Amino acid sequence: MSDDHDHHDGHDDHELRVSKISSGTVIDHVRGGQALNVLAILGIDGSDGEEVSVGMNVPSDRFARKDIVKVEGRELSQDEVDVLSLIAPDATINIVRDYEVVEKHRVERPDVVEGVLSCPNMACISTGDEPVASRFEVLDDGVRCAYCGTIVRDEIPSLIDT
Ligand code: CTP
Ligand code: ZN
Repeated sequence: MSDDHDHHDGHDDHELRVSKISSGTVIDHVRGGQALNVLAILGIDGSDGEEVSVGMNVPSDRFARKDIVKVEGRELSQDEVDVLSLIAPDATINIVRDYEVVEKHRVERPDVVEGVLSCPNMACISTGDEPVASRFEVLDDGVRCAYCGTIVRDEIPSLIDT
């Protein structure tokens, strides 16, 4: 009569759907729907042969659903983590070596990001010919260009300098 047992096993199967990595970075607890933006921020489009696993809308203890991105053989730069924090504010960065998690930290939203996003305003001083580094203030729900005040919320991934 009871299907309790199946229920528990089912949950564990979901957690194991994306296989473990041997060394690299696991970006966990990404907001559901943001995995492709995480790939964009990391410059991953599949063309350079990097081994990457993505789970979308997998069950999570902390949220109803989460995305997860596993990058084999790579650790992230602080700039990459800073930008990730804007679209995945609850993400956990796990550094894996020899199949073990050797470091785990939550992303922290910086007050300012410099030189990693470009302002979408073509008239902005930061997008002109003069070499002015871009500078965005981080808001609760987006970023604001420190030069022209343009506010960007949902389109942050499209501002990433490549
Ligand atoms: N992971 C992985 N490959 C490994 C080790 C861990 O892909 N060799 C993944 C796990 O599947 C998990 C994440 O890295 O999604 C973090 O691993 P771990 O700290 O062992 O899991 P939890 O304790 O559940 O993490 P948290 O407490 O942050 O939710
Ligand atoms: Zn601007």
